[in-house]
Parts: sequence; C-alpha cells; structure tokens
Amino acid sequence: QKNYFCFRRKFASKKVAKIVPKNTPKKQLATKKEAEDESSFSRLQEDRRKQAERSVLIACPPNITEMKFLKHLSTHGSIENCFFYESFGIYAVVEFSQTHSIDSMLGATIFPSVQNETAVPFKTRLLSLKASDSVLPKTRPSVPCQKLNPIGTKELILKLSQQDTVDKQLYYLLEQHQLTEENIRLRFLVCSLLKDIAAPYFPECVIRLFGSSVNSFGKLGCDLDLFLDLDSVRGRNTKQTRNQLSLEFQMKSTSSERAATQSILSVIAECVDHFGPGCVGVQKILNARCPLVRFSHQPSGFQCDLTTNNRVALKSSEMLHLYGRMDRRVRAMVLSLRCWAQVHGLTNNFPGAWITNFSLTTMIIFFLQRRSPPLIPPLDQLRELAGPRDECIIEGNDCTFVSDISRVKNLDNTETLDHLLQEFFVFYANFPFNQMSINIRKGKEDYKPDSSPLYIQNPFELSQNVSKNVNPTQLERLVTLCQESAWLLNEGWAKQRASTEPSPWGMGALLLPSLSQSIRNKSKKGRVLQPASERFKNLLAFLKTNKAGGSGAAGNA
Ligand code: GTP
Ligand code: MG
Repeated sequence: QKNYFCFRRKFASKKVAKIVPKNTPKKQLATKKEAEDESSFSRLQEDRRKQAERSVLIACPPNITEMKFLKHLSTHGSIENCFFYESFGIYAVVEFSQTHSIDSMLGATIFPSVQNETAVPFKTRLLSLKASDSVLPKTRPSVPCQKLNPIGTKELILKLSQQDTVDKQLYYLLEQHQLTEENIRLRFLVCSLLKDIAAPYFPECVIRLFGSSVNSFGKLGCDLDLFLDLDSVRGRNTKQTRNQLSLEFQMKSTSSERAATQSILSVIAECVDHFGPGCVGVQKILNARCPLVRFSHQPSGFQCDLTTNNRVALKSSEMLHLYGRMDRRVRAMVLSLRCWAQVHGLTNNFPGAWITNFSLTTMIIFFLQRRSPPLIPPLDQLRELAGPRDECIIEGNDCTFVSDISRVKNLDNTETLDHLLQEFFVFYANFPFNQMSINIRKGKEDYKPDSSPLYIQNPFELSQNVSKNVNPTQLERLVTLCQESAWLLNEGWAKQRASTEPSPWGMGALLLPSLSQSIRNKSKKGRVLQPASERFKNLLAFLKTNKAGGSGAAGNA
C-alpha cells in the first residue's frame, strides 16, 4: 500500500520525462565534465537501458482497473512509472525503482497451464496478469491508453490545413509523428527482453538500438533496428603477457568475420523463434550485405531487424541525433519530408531501388548545411570540436565528432520553415545529380566518383555511397516531386490568401495523393518529363525576383 502511494505521488509530479539532456544547473554538485557526459548520446542510451532492465511488460485482462493493477504490483516494490497501451489487447509497461523488485515479481510468477500443449520453460519479463471473475468489474473500465501509431494521413491533412502558417504546420506534424516518451520506453524494453534471450549464450552481450528509434527522427510506427554488441565479450583481456603463464579460452573458429556473424545470428534467430514469447515470423536474411534476422514482436507491434557488428550505424545514429538537437527546425524539416516521401511512395518499407529514409535525411542535412548562413555545420567541423574522449575509430574509419552539444556554436540562420521547405524543393529540383555527389562531411558537393544516379557519400565509410541502390527512375521521381511541390507550395499560398473556404494548403496540400498521381499519369501517357518543367522554370524566375529572406539554393538554381 505504501509503495503504491509512493508511486502515485511520483507519477503525478513526474509525468513525462522527455529524452532530452537533463537540466544541468539543477545538479549543483555535478562538475562540468559530468554534466557534459549526462547529456551525451551514449549516456542517454545507457540510462534508457538501465530503465528498461527495471521494467516488465504485462498483458492485462480487458476489465483491469489501474488502481487494482498498481496495488497488486507494488507488493514487489516501489513503482517508478507505468503506462498502458492497446495492441491485440491491453498491455502495461511497469518500471520499478529497483531491479530486485523484478526478481521478487518473477519469483512469485507461476507457469501457465496449457491444455494439449507443452510450454517451453523459458522465463522472461513478458508476463500475463490473470484474474478470477470475482476480482474485476464485469463492465470494461477504460484504462488510459497511450497511442503507438500516428494519426492517419487524411486526418493529418485536415488538421494541417487548419494551421495558419507553414511553420505551425511543420511543428504540428512533428508533434503528431515523433516518438513519444512511452513509445521510446517500450522500444528499449523490447530491446532488453531480446537481450534476455541472447544472454544465456553471450552473458556479457548488449543489444543496442540504432536507426530512427534513437536518432531523434523516428516516426511512430517505425521499425526497431537492433544490434547484438559482442565487443563487451570479446574486447577484454586480449593483451598477451610475456614470460608469464596465462590462460586463454578454447574457442571454435570460423573462416571469416562474416561467417562468425552469420552463425551467431542464425543461433539467435532459432532462440528468438523457439523461445521468445511474442516473437513471430522470424526470417534469417544472412546473405545480405549486412546479415540480419527480421521478426515481429507482437505485443509491441514492432518490426525488428537484428544485426551484429553494426557500430558504424550506431555512430551514424549518434551523428543524426546531434544534428537533430542543434536546432528545432531540423527535426521539423526531417519528419515532415519523411512523411511527404512516404505518402508519395518515394520511400518504402521493402528493400528496393527507392531512396531510404537514411539517404533522404542525409540529403536534408546537406541542404541545411548549404544555406547561407548555414543552419548546421559540416561534419568535419564537428570533428574539429571533438575532445580526446570523443575519439572513435571503427574498423579503420574515423568516426570522431564532438559529443558535447554546448561546444557547437549557433550559426545565426533565422530562416522560417516555410522558406526552408520551399528552398529544399527548389534545391533538389535543380541539383546537378548527373555530375555531383552529396557530401555532408565537407558540407559541399563533390564530383561523383562513379556513375550511380544518386551519390551520397557515406560520412564514415568514405568510399561508399549510401544511395547506391537508387535507380534512375526513382531519382527522376524525386526530382519531379520536388518540382511539383515547390510549385504547389507557392501556388498554395496564393490560393489560401484568395479563398475563404478551408482547403488543403501548404504542407497539407503536399501530402495529397493527387500530387504523385498526376506525375504517374503523365509518365503513363508516355510524356517524357523534362529536367525542369515549364511551370517550374516560371516558378524559379518568380522566386528569383521575389526572394524573401535567405539565399542559398535559389541562388544555385
Ligand atoms: P526508418 O525508415 O524510420 O526505419 O529509418 P532508419 O533511419 O531507422 O533507417 P533503416 O531502418 O533503414 O536503417 C537503420 C540505420 O542503418 C540507419 O539509421 C543508418 O544508420 C543505417 N543505414 C541504413 N541504410 C544505410 C545505408 O544504405 N548505408 C549505410 N552506411 N547505413 C545505412
Ligand atoms: Mg529503422
């Protein structure tokens, strides 16, 4: 009882702690170095990982009441946080203040009795709460459920069109689409549950989240990118001691690092498939460039991609996270353009010749670096700002850049999102893709080293093109959509001013399916789309003569 009320007080005052650096001035005793560490990407990940280790995921009866639920669980210890969500039934994520509460709870948990089947006796922190009929009310009360998915496109367009500036539209879209605090907690919890499955084989392993779950550009419903980090197992005690006796492990060897990765992932895939409650549709995709295991985690609804040895991708996520925190316009631009690209089929969940979200995000970062004055600095500048503790070489690649955001100077760019969005479309509608590549390390275009239609230099593996998969058709679609969007955004303003009727405009109009349909119809009719349509040329002329505020891309045009 006492613990329960302790939780109520904490919960009422704490509510939602966003994944932002903690407020350093409040921590009077922390030294500057400690304060820096606290806001660094790795520290944030570590805090989240520990939080997840103190948490459980519980399937609840539909007629559960919050009060009864919390009262029952608090017999195992003080509860730090709890929320419910709906996904094939009601689930609760419960975080205890202390890890030993989890041991207490698991000690009191019983095995299910299944008829005509046998349960595999593998204990995890994914549990079910069972209640006899007399304990819970007959009618279904509504526990407050958190949303896990974004609002539909139709509703979004409607809501966007009710905003009175494009800036407000983009921030509204950001609010609606970004990962919530609860969604992030659930992502880390699923990651921690999967670690429990791998741990019997690799007790010192860590499963880390990377990609859009942690790079600050994640959209509700995005996949869960995980990697099994075995460095903590391998990394220690590798020094040879001379003239002394020493012991070494006897181990099996494989022909290559890739073969080792494939066999480890294959075993983990079997464990996830046979022992992982809630894990379904396990596929081993071991012959891909980056071998992976794909499956669905049903209780959370997350599509999971598990890889191993993916430190460079984790570093890319850290870099994007840093850019996302530099200026609030960055995240608003990226989430809005990711949404625009998804609605028009420029990006796709299936692998293919499409532009990936990672490539698109890199293009947006590059555009923001090319503004005058730049909105964000090139990666090379972030490298110069790095301290000794930031040094990072992965497989011979220099992945060093500053982790302390307070060392990055504000760059005095004051352009509105409205202007930036318009300029983004103009910039890429005109970009000389046939000759030049995108290089966010220098923040400048380079000559292309090969004939790939779209060349975006990998910021950490410099000889690689992150958009190697993109074919000429997909690039042409991107360019045409940029032309049409630039035109529509401009025309939308004029319409909005002239009309008294509320109709989709600005970002709302850019999400209408008719935009991509009209392009598809034109292509079907066999009309070859010109690099810059007549309409677009007129628009460029218009923009040049009416240039308001910033410069940059229009100047490039
Ligand atoms: P979503 O589409 O929301 O899942 O975005 P995402 O950023 O998570 O992309 P995705 O799941 O496709 O990839 C996860 C991470 O892998 C990315 O954030 C990158 O760090 C990395 N990555 C993806 N594609 C590439 C690529 O083509 N080259 C390289 N070097 N890294 C990639
Ligand atoms: Mg992803």
